Amino acid sequence: MKIIVTGGAGFIGGNFVHYMVEKYPDYEIVCLDKLTYAGNLETLEPVMDKPGFKFVKGDIADREFVYKLFEDEKPDIIVNFAAESHVDRSISDPGIFLQTNIIGTGVLLDACREYGIKRYHQVSTDEVYGDLPLDRPDLFFTETTPLHTSSPYSASKASADLLVLAYHRTFKLPVTISRCSNNYGPYHFPEKLIPLMIANCLNDKPLPVYGKGENVRDWLYVIDHCRAIDMIIHDGKVGEVYNIGGHNERTNLQVVETIIDALGKSRDLIQYVTDRPGHDMRYAIDPTKIHDELGWEPTTKFDDGIKQTIEWYLNNKSWWEKIISGEYQNYYDKMYKDR
Ligand code: NAD
Ligand code: TYD
Repeated sequence: MKIIVTGGAGFIGGNFVHYMVEKYPDYEIVCLDKLTYAGNLETLEPVMDKPGFKFVKGDIADREFVYKLFEDEKPDIIVNFAAESHVDRSISDPGIFLQTNIIGTGVLLDACREYGIKRYHQVSTDEVYGDLPLDRPDLFFTETTPLHTSSPYSASKASADLLVLAYHRTFKLPVTISRCSNNYGPYHFPEKLIPLMIANCLNDKPLPVYGKGENVRDWLYVIDHCRAIDMIIHDGKVGEVYNIGGHNERTNLQVVETIIDALGKSRDLIQYVTDRPGHDMRYAIDPTKIHDELGWEPTTKFDDGIKQTIEWYLNNKSWWEKIISGEYQNYYDKMYKDR
């Protein structure tokens, strides 16, 4: 079995590569990644020398390059993680989100048609469903919840999902889609809430909470997401969408306070800043379908996962300190100065 994993030098793709190399030593795994600001070869260091693993640098939106890769590698399965993934960046610069997330997905789908594959899996997000109101805790996203996007990021991901489903219906391409809630864990780029708060806390820097900090996210430990994708690509039904989430809802403020307390810092570090435009209030997944059809359920509770994650950031300072000492500083100033 040969799998091309796109975006494997990023957060979730990197964890997925580690997981698959470990679990299926006889598989061949080819990681295709453009190495944008979010891609990091150090994330792949533990698997770089493993037999059956190969890294290729390239852009999923580069048709000539992608076709050549398919011709050379003849993959059985494609798992597409590659994306621009940060909502705030999509608000300041939407163009690259359309290019990578929509055009890039289109190029991969065309390559699958051209060369033939057993399965194309699209890694999508619960953000395609928009948000839920805070005063209706009884509501959850199911696979039939209408798409109702808020940010250029989520709109680009929803567009990609529609393309994937269209290629299934029109060209009979064997596709699956997963829509997961917010992930956390090792190798998470420190522009996102949890790693940003851990890094700032450790550096005694202010913790920028958007608005009132009352927005709710449904947090899933990244390895639980990887296990779900593994189940879907092997046993999921072609043409289907699977929601992934573990009923771990927390307000942003609860998450930030958990991190502060775990690191023994002062809650005075919290700084309320101007809210994100169009900020989604609550995401919450109903994972009944993947549970009933494939037997998936999350294994890591938030309280355990957040401890393990903080531990990882404490033990792997060189991984994230290198990131925040470079170009990231300009990003941080642009995003947070005078906010
Ligand atoms: P990330 O930003 O950490 O990693 C993205 C990776 O894709 C990077 O390695 C980057 O170099 C690569 N990449 C970007 N553009 C590329 C291109 N044109 N060609 C090839 N590679 C390219 O993102 P992540 O958080 O790991 O998210 C991975 C996927 O999971 C995304 O599709 C995202 O929409 C989805 N997702 C993320 C979450 C989450 O909480 N992070 C939740 C649900 C779904
Ligand atoms: P983020 O990690 O960017 O994920 P997403 O927007 O895709 O859910 O943000 C998670 C939540 O944390 C979101 O409600 C925005 C909020 N947030 C802050 O309050 N401060 C920050 O500095 C960041 C990055 C996010």
